[in-house]
Amino acid sequence: MSLFSGKAVSLWGIGMHVPERILTNQELEQMVDTSNEWILERTGIRERHIVAPEKQTSDLAVEAGRIALERAGLAPEELDMVIVATNSPDTIFPCTAAKVQGKLGAKKAGAFDVQSGCTGCVYALTVAVSGIAAGVWRHVLVIGAEALSRLINWQDRNTCVLFGDGAGACVLGPRREGDGRFIAASLRADGTKHDLISLPAGGSERPASKETLEEGAHFVHMKGNEVFKFVNRELPPFLQSFCESSGVEPGHVDWWIFHQANWRIMDGILRRFGVSPERAVVNLDRYGNTSAASVFLALCEALDDGRIRKGQKMVINSFGAGMTYGAILLEV
Ligand code: UT7
Repeated sequence: MSLFSGKAVSLWGIGMHVPERILTNQELEQMVDTSNEWILERTGIRERHIVAPEKQTSDLAVEAGRIALERAGLAPEELDMVIVATNSPDTIFPCTAAKVQGKLGAKKAGAFDVQSGCTGCVYALTVAVSGIAAGVWRHVLVIGAEALSRLINWQDRNTCVLFGDGAGACVLGPRREGDGRFIAASLRADGTKHDLISLPAGGSERPASKETLEEGAHFVHMKGNEVFKFVNRELPPFLQSFCESSGVEPGHVDWWIFHQANWRIMDGILRRFGVSPERAVVNLDRYGNTSAASVFLALCEALDDGRIRKGQKMVINSFGAGMTYGAILLEV
């Protein structure tokens, strides 16, 4: 079962924030043995934004959260919960969401982080919708935020060309007159593949030591091609069965909001469904892979520029470290 039941929940407002500094493929050519052509052909990325030295993940999250709240017409004090999906929290603890709650002045809200790879945003949205549908919360702020550039080895061409920083935020609440609603969600994982994307050191398994520093074990490690194969194998049948159980044909979905990791992955899935590439919202060329923020940035831009119109349905889906993956069917 993937359909939401209980109170209908809708998207009240959305916002995003990316840091000013842009890092182009041409600049990366000066840093590692890579080329603009390789990055563009293999991923679709042209440039990405990099967080300023004095800012943290929580700062990006707060900026995006303020915009979403303003657009939702909601004061921070009216929030019941703040959830931040991130893989680059300011600190292991306290959670980044607590800092965001404090900075926003969301005095009556609880706060927690969801750390589930790039899929964290889809997990967080699902939890938020479920909490509102069940009547536990009324208004929830869900933010996907990353300063992953801080955790990247800038000498490792396998990872440093891929990721970017940014934050996207959604305010959710009970459905109002004229609103769409969250229709269905499905969350999956294959934890036997936990070694495909990891940050090996700095946790309780391998606390920081001279050795871990020398090994560079505090940086993101990724078996990119194995991730690529895993996703191409698992995502299409998962999305097909998600659509079936949600009562929608892939060909009748108005928009596909994919995790912005690689254009070849998005294109491959759409081809298998016989769906035009124009049905996908794509902005990874300008932001790279912003991990748990990526689908929120895509959704925000497409709503802001009027591509996505009221009454349209979209499948938001993501995959990442864990390996986790998941999808949400939303009508705006
Ligand atoms: O959000 C988290 C989820 N992660 C992902 O979605 C990542 C999924 N994976 C991918 O997007 C792709 O696997 C990559 C873009 C990471 C890599 O593309 P690929 O087509 O799978 O390439 P590959 O890893 O098989 O490497 C092909 C070649 C290798 O050289 P040899 O062994 O053929 O001589 C690599 O060493 O490309 C080389 N290579 C590079 N060359 C230039 C790897 N990185 C680079 C680079 N520039 N940055």
